[in-house]
Amino acid sequence: MKLWGGRFTKETNKLVENFNESLSFDHRFYKQDIRGSIAHVKMLAKQNILTDNERDKIIEGLNSIEADIDSGKLKFDDGSEDIHSFVEAHLIERIGETGKKLHTGRSRNDQVALDMKLYVRDEIDELKDLLYELLSEVLRIMEENTTTYMPGFTHLQKAQPTTLAHHFGAYFETFIRDYDRLVSTRKRMNLSPLGSGAFAGTTYDLDRDYVASILDFDTATRNSMDSVSDRDYLLELLSDLAIMSMHLSRLSEEIIIWNTDEYRFVEMDDTYSTGSSIMPQKKNPDIAELIRGKSGRVYGSLISLLTTMKGLPLAYNKDMQEDKEMSFDAIDTVKSLIKLMSGMLSSMKFNHERMAKSARGGFTNATDAADYLVKKNVAFRDAHEIVGRLVLYGIENNKALDDFTLEEFKNISEAFDNDIYDAISLKTCVEKRNTKGAPGLKAINDEIEASRKLLECLK
Ligand code: ARG
Repeated sequence: MKLWGGRFTKETNKLVENFNESLSFDHRFYKQDIRGSIAHVKMLAKQNILTDNERDKIIEGLNSIEADIDSGKLKFDDGSEDIHSFVEAHLIERIGETGKKLHTGRSRNDQVALDMKLYVRDEIDELKDLLYELLSEVLRIMEENTTTYMPGFTHLQKAQPTTLAHHFGAYFETFIRDYDRLVSTRKRMNLSPLGSGAFAGTTYDLDRDYVASILDFDTATRNSMDSVSDRDYLLELLSDLAIMSMHLSRLSEEIIIWNTDEYRFVEMDDTYSTGSSIMPQKKNPDIAELIRGKSGRVYGSLISLLTTMKGLPLAYNKDMQEDKEMSFDAIDTVKSLIKLMSGMLSSMKFNHERMAKSARGGFTNATDAADYLVKKNVAFRDAHEIVGRLVLYGIENNKALDDFTLEEFKNISEAFDNDIYDAISLKTCVEKRNTKGAPGLKAINDEIEASRKLLECLK
């Protein structure tokens, strides 16, 4: 059934009908559509625009439609234009004339704005829960690895030794910011557009704030024209998701590198790896690669919607129907990325020995050797120069600093003494670094404690 047949004398062209329809994708928010309609009729009855009896009949009809959709009895196959027409048509079919009063004081423009907000709000809550799981997994890795030494990298070159707890602490911060962004996007969007009509409000005495309160919005939007034209909250969410998928992609990239035969810092569990159809020896990190790869399509959604919106005059334009598939795809994608990352991390094994061995090579303690000299009253610039010469000697003789004899140290500078070995040991290099946020045992334990508290506040 069409909602707008009256003005037309000819049937819509079939191609046009197919091109115009949105039921094939907006059916996914049927629950939100029904929830919004129930709130609307409650308000209409409160304002004496509908009788209590009409309200109850409509609500009963809407509930039965929802139950039949839930159970699979009612399918989205009647050729309706969109979910709004679908629900209304079935309501009228079920309860007769009274059903025709549902749309009083409402336009599909404010209805779709409401449905999408309700849907997105629910999805944000799910995304928050999934991020919470991921953060818990990251915190577990931190707690278990405060003395798991590994090299830290800059320019993908070994730089200074650190610990796995410290490395994952960086991801804890990353994902907590992602969580915060979702919270603030949700806060800003939490205003109800219903009652804005097509764009200019209505002549009925609607109580918009009442509708807002029963749908758990903070209040109703201020400007009815903006209410039906605004898709900022989707752009904000898409940008939150784009940033989040970029973070997941960076972590995936590290896992892929760590999983190579050259590094062997981690071993992926069989349940999270795949094989090769030709090379029997292969165990590939496909899941990490797909997480990395799918960030591209999430960025795509953000750019698509920005582009769709940029030329639209106020108020509603049909272009805005395009917001749905892009948003749904990005939300679905990121939800699965987070779930897979959590699962991959929880099943992955870290090779502590390989990491420590790698941290011992590559002169990652060179900065500490220079700091040692500074404590012996050598100026830092001179110390830097001296250690540079030590490194050169080490490279030429294929020796780590720890393996030099005291004589070799002294050949380059008399300032060295027997205590140099302790000063540049892996343990000292890491554990002496106790500035706030550093990998030293005291500092990382403080960080873990703070992270644990932050996580507790989220639940
Ligand atoms: N399917 C439409 C959308 O997603 C619903 C709103 C239709 N409004 C209209 N005036 N044609 O945007």
